[in-house]
Amino acid sequence: MTTAPTTEKPTNHQSNLGVIAGAATAGAAIGVLAMLGRKAAVQAPSALAANWVAALTAEHKAVLKIFDALEATESRNTTKRAILLAQLKHALAKHDVEEGNVVYPALREAGRTEEADHLTKDHGYVKQYLYELDNMPRDSAEFPAKLRKFRADLEKHMTEEETDLFPSLRAQLSDEKNKALAAAMNKEGFKVA
Ligand SMILES: [Fe+2]
Ligand SMILES: [Fe+2]
Repeated sequence: MTTAPTTEKPTNHQSNLGVIAGAATAGAAIGVLAMLGRKAAVQAPSALAANWVAALTAEHKAVLKIFDALEATESRNTTKRAILLAQLKHALAKHDVEEGNVVYPALREAGRTEEADHLTKDHGYVKQYLYELDNMPRDSAEFPAKLRKFRADLEKHMTEEETDLFPSLRAQLSDEKNKALAAAMNKEGFKVA
């Protein structure tokens, strides 16, 4: 008699993430966020703890899904905009703590101060955009334009991290150091989530 797959199998964690990613791709990001609840939604990508670059990349994708949902709103959807903006702020705050408290210091420790300072400066402007959006009437005609500029700048920052700076730092560090970095990063993120 064959045994039906149980929830105990080691790959289950990844399957769940696959389901989340698939649903998000289908444009159901908000439904998924609502289903999981705020904490679970932002913690899910951190489950990729073994590879900190993959974990941060997954968080980037989750953030862009919130942008997709925001961009799909119309000026009359003020409540939806407020909720999505709060989700965006929360996801980016967690991400900022993970990178700013652990990854960027590790980058400096590896002798790459200039790159770390450049990324830190970018994060300052992320907060600037969030501040400006927060202080803008939700039905403002400027809202979508500000959002588009924010996304463009943020995507540039994410691409630099994903394709260049993070993989090269990971390659520079020992397995043991990468493991410690991932653990420290998740610990920081968990405090905020
Ligand atoms: Fe960053
Ligand atoms: Fe990032």
